[in-house]
Amino acid sequence: MDLLKEIKKIESEAQEKFKKVENLKRLEKLRVKYLGKKGKIAQIFSKMGQVADEQKPIVGKETNILKNKIQKLYNQLKEEKEKELKAEKLKSETIDVTLPGNKVDVGHKNPFTHIIDEVVELFLGMGFSIEEGPEVETEYYNFEALNIPKDHPARDLQDTLYIDDQYLLRTHTSPVQIRTMEKEEPPIKIIAPGRVYRSDELDASHSPNFHQIEGLVIDKDISFSDLKGVIEIFIHEIYGKERKIRFRPSYFPFTEPSAEVDVSCNVCKGKGCSLCSYTGWVEVLGSGMVHPNVLKMSGLDPDIYSGFAFGMGWDRIAMLKYDIDDIRVLYENDKRFIHQF
Ligand code: DAH
Repeated sequence: MDLLKEIKKIESEAQEKFKKVENLKRLEKLRVKYLGKKGKIAQIFSKMGQVADEQKPIVGKETNILKNKIQKLYNQLKEEKEKELKAEKLKSETIDVTLPGNKVDVGHKNPFTHIIDEVVELFLGMGFSIEEGPEVETEYYNFEALNIPKDHPARDLQDTLYIDDQYLLRTHTSPVQIRTMEKEEPPIKIIAPGRVYRSDELDASHSPNFHQIEGLVIDKDISFSDLKGVIEIFIHEIYGKERKIRFRPSYFPFTEPSAEVDVSCNVCKGKGCSLCSYTGWVEVLGSGMVHPNVLKMSGLDPDIYSGFAFGMGWDRIAMLKYDIDDIRVLYENDKRFIHQF
């Protein structure tokens, strides 16, 4: 009765092995070893041919009992091990609500945005409205209509990035003056903030793309003192009332007379330092009375209307206001920098 003995042996061996099983993987191996297609039970069934006929039902019965026992054992252990695994997982994934959370980095305004918000609010308060123009401009709007004819030396002052014979990247926001005068009847009172381009090498004070804010006021009887008043309010509001202001005669083809405006240096308070090239003054904008040719070309009669215009580097306002000595930091979006504002 070898097979019956073998069955007993398999049973005790299986009992022992299943008892010791550590994890689901081992358990599966044991299942294959005993209950699999080529497992120990199947092997016994395959030996049935050798068993004497009268013994066959007994051996068959015992084998089936064994099979059921092992199957039950397996099922039990499987359930147990799965429960254990789940419990372990739950334990390891428990959240400690008392731990400090991960800080979410919230967005922050670039100093540019701070400045433009302030400037726009100030000019809106003075009755100005906001205009925009295209960054890809024609030669006509960027130069000709601003009284800068072809071959005029002033074109060299602004190294232009041309797209083709006709189109270029605007070198200043002044073309918005022309576009506004063409489409609107005076009184006109606008500012036009925007991006401008020049073929400058990038260094601490130059960038091939930077920003300007243009201003234009056209009406009857506008004089230089109106210009002076608006600029003084602007400078005192943005830079502080203690800053001194100086109008210096200058030249721009689209204004006559023209003036550049300086404010007293904030770093040395006018005594002279490297920021102001030891002059005590820093230049903040260009301005002047709109040239009669410009009015005429835009369809306005210079005998009826007059006006003033001004243009300033938006980047420069930020740099002067926050004592930033390198324009590049404004464009790099380094969070350590931006978060200071
Ligand atoms: N467009 C000039 C520039 O880019 C700045 C400027 C000067 C604008 C005088 C004006 C102005 O409107 O009146 O350098």
